[in-house]
Amino acid sequence: MVKVGLVSLGCAKNLIDSEIMIGHLAQAGMSLTAETKEADVVIVNTCSFIDASKKESLQAIFDMQDERLAAKKKKQKLIVAGCMSQRYEGELPKLLPEVDAFIGLDQVTQVVPVINEVLGHTSKENEQLDFTTEKPQYIPDFDTPRVRLTPKHTAYIKIAEGCNHPCSFCIIPKIRGRHRSRTVESVVKEARRLVAEGVKEINLISQDTTYFGMDRWESDRPNPRSGVDSAKGESLATLLRELNKIEGDFWIRLLYTHPAHWSDELIATIAECPKVVRYVDIPLQHISTNMLTKMQRQTDGPYIRDLIRRMRAGIPGIIIRTTFIVGFPGETEADFEELREFLSETRFERVGIFKYSKEEGTKAAKLDEHIHHKTKERRWALAMGTLRQLSEERCRSYVGRKIKVLVDKPGEARSAADALEIDGTVFVDESIPVGTFAEVTVTGHREYDLIAR
Ligand code: F3S
Repeated sequence: MVKVGLVSLGCAKNLIDSEIMIGHLAQAGMSLTAETKEADVVIVNTCSFIDASKKESLQAIFDMQDERLAAKKKKQKLIVAGCMSQRYEGELPKLLPEVDAFIGLDQVTQVVPVINEVLGHTSKENEQLDFTTEKPQYIPDFDTPRVRLTPKHTAYIKIAEGCNHPCSFCIIPKIRGRHRSRTVESVVKEARRLVAEGVKEINLISQDTTYFGMDRWESDRPNPRSGVDSAKGESLATLLRELNKIEGDFWIRLLYTHPAHWSDELIATIAECPKVVRYVDIPLQHISTNMLTKMQRQTDGPYIRDLIRRMRAGIPGIIIRTTFIVGFPGETEADFEELREFLSETRFERVGIFKYSKEEGTKAAKLDEHIHHKTKERRWALAMGTLRQLSEERCRSYVGRKIKVLVDKPGEARSAADALEIDGTVFVDESIPVGTFAEVTVTGHREYDLIAR
């Protein structure tokens, strides 16, 4: 039996690709081993979002090569998959002679024939195979073989793939291709099966969850700010209403939404659907119109302020998670101060602050007025200081409150306000069974985490 080792890096979207590869391996009777040195084939599923992720991916490839040499496993094959392989399609083989084969995003379902070919490849030594193709088009369906790598009670569903946004700092649209949505029917079928298998939390993901369905609308440039989404075709609102009808005790979480596509109908739908948690991940990136324009975010300051107001008014108790970039080219002290004031007055429940990272191949890399790294560092530290204070106050306000949690491990749970591997933990009694919901009372807090009984 062929033994395969897999190192999965990057985001949840890449994790699903790893799950799909493992699903196909399992279906073909191959086995997965956690001991990569014992594997016949090792796959490194890479990320290539920013420099740090590229370095991590390269390090993982070099580590696997070192391990292969140390274990004297000359016949072991090394395959590189995922976003780095896709981004540098055609270039990586020259740069990484130690790798036996490369596959891109459209080859995740082809992993078995690829492995068979790599293992049977007996021609001249050092000859590499490159299966990567340009412009990915693939999107999974409800019956795509998949072995989940998340805890049993929680699952991701990729509702769409690719991205049509022009954000000037981001390379992902170039890597993952144009936006393509699944159908409501396909997603609902998958969700039904997961719930029947005992899944208690469904995390809907894609590059832009709010654009779901809109790529199939007749109008070339959907404008969800006007009219009702569902009158134009399938949309995230339509999908949530259908998912909400599935019977069972589970909750649905929305990740990776884009502010440009939020409609009043979507706000009303979340408010009406009890299975959809009052938690939304909506990366805003900045609040200054000057910055949002340079970032090509298709939004401006007044629009974002109004949207947050409408979300808070329409979905009482909503937890908003967002991210901001500081030190983007051309960010003035006034732009940054506007952001800090916005953080203080809006009091988001969950915030991530990132220092701008210059990425080759993006429009932002070519902009003038790049910010000195010391200024970026100072702005980041100031913004983080503001956030720490707000987070402390927020955690304190929870003490004494009753909350519903989902138990991930003995003694560790998450509330509706905590997304898997993103937010904090609620420490609970170890006797509460893993994979179940429980009502607990918050008794204290520790930095970003809560303590409850
Ligand atoms: Fe995700 Fe990294 Fe690709 S963040 S989409 S794995 S570039």
